[in-house]
Amino acid sequence: MRTFIVVLAVVVTVCFVACVAAAENKFVGAAKCKSCHSVEKMGGLSYKVWEKSAHAKAFEVLKSKEAEEVAKKKGLKTAAAESPECLKCHVTAADVKKEDGVTCEACHGAASAFLSIHNKPENKEKATAAGLVVPSKDDSKPCEKCHNEESPTFKGFKMAEKWAKIAHAGPKKSP
Ligand code: HEC
Ligand code: HEC
Ligand code: HEC
Ligand code: HEC
Repeated sequence: MRTFIVVLAVVVTVCFVACVAAAENKFVGAAKCKSCHSVEKMGGLSYKVWEKSAHAKAFEVLKSKEAEEVAKKKGLKTAAAESPECLKCHVTAADVKKEDGVTCEACHGAASAFLSIHNKPENKEKATAAGLVVPSKDDSKPCEKCHNEESPTFKGFKMAEKWAKIAHAGPKKSP
């Protein structure tokens, strides 16, 4: 009985810690990254690259004629820009600003818990524990969450070729 209670206490604690950590990670929106990540010496020029990329227009594109046709072909009863079937890949954080489309946080993690600490190199470990993700430009896996056969317009995905279109970096090797 005693062991059982101890095990139960451990399980509850672990879940509590994990759940609180997960609950803390809220999306803050791309506008919160702009001030530092569009100044070369501060955070690099990643915001400027993103702003011009297809990702920043991923919601917008759902209002196009092409999107309408794709949605019709799929038999959707609602407009593409209002259909969860399309929004799931075309919008990162509907509760912040869906017009931003696929934002920084789609790839770098929901930022609420790391935003205020990640800008100092000595905080790297803390920021990572708080949810900061830095994927590698050589790893296509994080991209393939959306770039896959489930995308009605999918025509294949070659990492080097696609990364070249959105390539960005931190302050030391901007963009
Ligand atoms: C107050 C300024 C500031 C804001 C606001 C800011 N950043 Fe940063 N960020 C920095 C600086 C400075 C660095 C470089 C830190 C370093 O050299 O380790 C950085 C580094 C990063 C890195 C690379 C981390 C690493 O370990 O290589 C990512 C990813 C990142 N920021 C994402 C974001 C996202 C996403 C947002 C918005 C939600 C954001 N940042 C907002 C200043 C900022
Ligand atoms: C589609 C996914 C994706 C989006 C969107 C994205 N990034 Fe990145 N980001 C990456 C990948 C992948 C790398 C790692 C590149 C590498 O291996 O050199 C990276 C690297 C970075 C780095 C440099 C990290 C380092 O240690 O060199 C910073 C800073 C950064 N991103 C900030 C941002 C900000 C700010 C935004 C939004 C304005 C953003 N990123 C949008 C995928 C993304
Ligand atoms: C959250 C979903 C999501 C993730 C993750 C994602 N993308 Fe995208 N990506 C999209 C959507 C949606 C579009 C189409 C936007 C449009 O046409 O306006 C797109 C378009 C693009 C485009 C322009 C169209 C094309 O195919 O040439 C490039 C390049 C691209 N993504 C690269 C990447 C890379 C590289 C990664 C990983 C580092 C990545 N994406 C991760 C959703 C995502
Ligand atoms: C599994 C993720 C995913 C889903 C679900 C998804 N898309 Fe996309 N969509 C993407 C990606 C990634 C791209 C960019 C590369 C490509 O075409 O695969 C894209 C590109 C597009 C484009 C631009 C095509 C072009 O050639 O420039 C349109 C239009 C579009 N999607 C419409 C839709 C509609 C409408 C729906 C819902 C019926 C939808 N998508 C569902 C991931 C998705």
